[in-house]
Amino acid sequence: MTRGRFIALEGGEGAGKSTQARLLADAIGARGIACTVTREPGGTPGAEAIRALLLGLEGEGWHPRAEALLFAAARSDHVERLIRPALETGKWVICDRFVDSSRAYQGGAGGLSDADVLDLHRIGSSGLLPDLTLLIEIDPDTAAKRLAARDVAGADRIGGRDAAYHAAVSAAFSRIADAEPHRFARIDGNGDAAAVHGAITNAVMPMLSRP
Ligand code: TMP
Repeated sequence: MTRGRFIALEGGEGAGKSTQARLLADAIGARGIACTVTREPGGTPGAEAIRALLLGLEGEGWHPRAEALLFAAARSDHVERLIRPALETGKWVICDRFVDSSRAYQGGAGGLSDADVLDLHRIGSSGLLPDLTLLIEIDPDTAAKRLAARDVAGADRIGGRDAAYHAAVSAAFSRIADAEPHRFARIDGNGDAAAVHGAITNAVMPMLSRP
């Protein structure tokens, strides 16, 4: 049995990752490849419960280190119960956010070192990395317009942090992608969903043609 491929979508708020994850899964499925779409934080009942603790608006919030531990715990459950078993049975896994979100949000913007975030990932998830990470990048103005339309009831606890925090997130994503060009494809996310999907399909094409 050939192991399935693991593709993550990353980017700041309003980048369109969830829409693109679904479009990509449909395109892969249309080629007869079994494919699972999932998200972080979440994807399993335990990880979804941790998501509610992390993003819910009640309470005083989490210290940055506790926040990083909770993301790592949610990821551990998700990897062990859903992602790894799916890959082992030959399924492809498309994941809306993965460890690079922790490196950008809790690391670059939240103040933890990249080495600490990667240590948590090594302990929780044996350091599993995607075969390909699609970083969808959008201008801050486009992000602001999309979020105003999407988050009419208000942003979640992390999405609602200030502009400086989100600028640090996108700078961190950019640094990580520059440092690991073999794993990352950078996608211009400013166009409409069909144009972004076209760019993603081009980036994924080499994997589809390889056995
Ligand atoms: P979502 O809006 O893409 O569903 O993600 C939920 C929020 O959680 C988003 O603001 C990004 C944040 N997040 C982190 O801070 N660290 C992580 O490791 C992950 C997966 C998400």
